[in-house]
Amino acid sequence: MNIIRRPRRNRHSAVLRDLVQETQLSTNDFILPLFIIEGQNTRTEVASMPGIYRHSVDLLLDEIGECVDLGIRAFDLFPNLPDAKKDRTATEATNPDGLYLSAIRAVKDRFPDVVIMTDVAMDPYSSDGHDGLVENGKILNDPTLEILGNMAVAQARAGADIVGPSDMMDGRVGHIRRMLDVHGFQDVAIMSYAVKYASAFYGPFRDALQSAPKFGDKKTYQMNPANSREALIEAELDVAEGADFLMVKPALAYLDIIKLLHDNFDLPITAYNVSGEYAMVKSAAQNGWLDNDRTILECLLSIKRAGASAILTYFAKEAATLLR
Ligand code: PBG
Repeated sequence: MNIIRRPRRNRHSAVLRDLVQETQLSTNDFILPLFIIEGQNTRTEVASMPGIYRHSVDLLLDEIGECVDLGIRAFDLFPNLPDAKKDRTATEATNPDGLYLSAIRAVKDRFPDVVIMTDVAMDPYSSDGHDGLVENGKILNDPTLEILGNMAVAQARAGADIVGPSDMMDGRVGHIRRMLDVHGFQDVAIMSYAVKYASAFYGPFRDALQSAPKFGDKKTYQMNPANSREALIEAELDVAEGADFLMVKPALAYLDIIKLLHDNFDLPITAYNVSGEYAMVKSAAQNGWLDNDRTILECLLSIKRAGASAILTYFAKEAATLLR
């Protein structure tokens, strides 16, 4: 056969394949989301996320210690609160002695060098289970901004390095930036959930935090999965308002959006490999239908290849172990 170009030549041996590998996955890329609960010496497994636990703060410190030993150095914390601590205005979110802010302080105290990212949204603290303030069945935008601004400042005061607004209210990045600056937190970064879709893949996360909306859905603030041009509008606004990172969420069903943002914006693009994506891989692997380790690394590599420089993923610990 007279075939001049033979791409298979570069795949002949492991060394050749490594030489031409375009994308490398590293433990430096990972941000591990962690769930926190009240109490002492307590951890409960999330039923829909095998291997993922809600930790009381003392055990959270042990968990982070193990992760640091594996090379993971960035964490995103989420609180699971009892219903009794939830109300309409998410009061508990700014309680300095509450679960969340105490946990941030405890982690930064023990591990000053790790990066702590926080979640800015009302849902874990809201009796309505929505990310914004609810009135007569509607999610109010501008009054929510005031609550989110105070929440971000309280988190920065507790030691957060990056605040992550996940609420999708209009104007929240700009408002949070101004509030942080006024309070002297110029160095606290904002990782905006710039392009966050109204996705079925958040189900297991809402189980983990018992934070599902008490009525309706999140479609008046989260984006329609059918849209990609709208992603550019959301990203442009967040750049103009002062975001330091642009996140796409979920990741795997939205690789085109990661690529779109990567090709159109200079800020680092991050992606959230969400709870449902974790649950899908884990349930198939537990049934012996997919190879757990190879599937995890392939998913994460794909997200990076699409253009994400950092990945929020519940697989961080397993992947870090595999990458050793
Ligand atoms: C809520 C929030 C959600 C997630 C992160 N922050 C869920 C939602 O919007 O309902 C989902 C993360 C995941 O599924 O892993 N502000």
